[in-house]
Amino acid sequence: MPYAQIAGWGMCVPSKVLSNDDLVKAGLNTSDEWITSRTGIKQRHVVSAGEATSDLALKAAQRALAKANADPREIDLIVVATSTPDHVLPSTASLVQDRLGASRAGALDVNAACAGFVYGLTLATGQIESGRCKQALVIGADALSLYVNWKDRATCVLFGDGAGAVLLRSGEEPGVLATSLGSDGSGAGLLIVPAGGSRHPSTNDSLRNGNHYLSMNGPQVFRFATQIMGRDAERVMEASGLGPDDVDLFVPHQANLRIIETAAKRLKLAPDKVFTNVSQYGNTSAASIPIALCEAIDEGRLKAGDHMVLSSFGAGLAWASAVVRWGTPQPVRLTAAGRLRRAAGLSTTRARSRLRRTLGRVRGLLARS
Ligand code: ACO
Repeated sequence: MPYAQIAGWGMCVPSKVLSNDDLVKAGLNTSDEWITSRTGIKQRHVVSAGEATSDLALKAAQRALAKANADPREIDLIVVATSTPDHVLPSTASLVQDRLGASRAGALDVNAACAGFVYGLTLATGQIESGRCKQALVIGADALSLYVNWKDRATCVLFGDGAGAVLLRSGEEPGVLATSLGSDGSGAGLLIVPAGGSRHPSTNDSLRNGNHYLSMNGPQVFRFATQIMGRDAERVMEASGLGPDDVDLFVPHQANLRIIETAAKRLKLAPDKVFTNVSQYGNTSAASIPIALCEAIDEGRLKAGDHMVLSSFGAGLAWASAVVRWGTPQPVRLTAAGRLRRAAGLSTTRARSRLRRTLGRVRGLLARS
């Protein structure tokens, strides 16, 4: 069975930055001291007017492909994990597929809120392991700043926007080793955007009442998160036979520093094995783990053979974890048609038909000789 290896990675955050002090200056009844001590967040990046989730996703994807020296026309699958798609339909993944020029790829969105990226990683890994895909792009992208009520200090200080992407490639060296997915929909109301879906379509009333804003029971989500992140990470470590000493890097969902520290304590991981960047970006939802992953890789926090644990939780309630062995990414193994296509700059269909014609001629020559 082939492994799914991370061959490329890329991230994108909007250029507009809002610091805690900016929020205070804008009239929000909060303070840098409160936000920093309760969450670890110092600033967040937010989209500007006209900027949407797919814009961030596209840039992150392009950077991931450039890192892997990959041709978009050779991608088999694009998964975009998001709960803030550009539209109800079509999928954001299809928009990215088109703008990327990934002419051969299937594309779909996954919504598991902040756990979405690890869900997407799990689905794409399955496709690669089964041999149905050679290369899959998994993107986590969200713009929750468009869904928070900027007058609600209990939620708006927490979130930021961004996107992160990885290119998974089929290879013989271990890559994604184990994944774990979970959900408890009985907690759906704890973190919800009540209106704008089929249960409560948008109306003048829903807009007037602010029901299209994200609403959250912070303390209960906090309790859930502090339990589930460590527990699920433990489960996935057990599944891949890893103890705390075997984990080289823990890359948790970046929602709140206190939640991360609680999980790390439960996992008996020293602080230098825990990657955090929540201070710079806040909670970027599905983008949080891939953004953290990109920064960890680019800071040289991983070397070949290292094991990292990804662990996430979010609205749903939903959670997901993964163990990944960091390796030397394998160059893509193209099919004969793929090699011809790349060499001659042909489309996949033309390359296949040219290859068929050539093979036909060779068979004809062999039959005659
Ligand atoms: N500034 C100042 N005071 C504030 C702020 C703020 N930004 N926000 C809330 N407060 C006040 C509250 O009004 C409350 O005041 P009161 O005691 O007078 O009523 C007080 O601070 C304490 O409020 P709590 O909500 O109990 O504060 P808590 O210590 O629980 O921290 C927090 C709140 C940071 C939101 C925490 O509960 C948390 O991190 N929860 C998890 C949130 C999370 O991770 N959500 C994302 C999930 S991922 C996804 O899928 C999107």
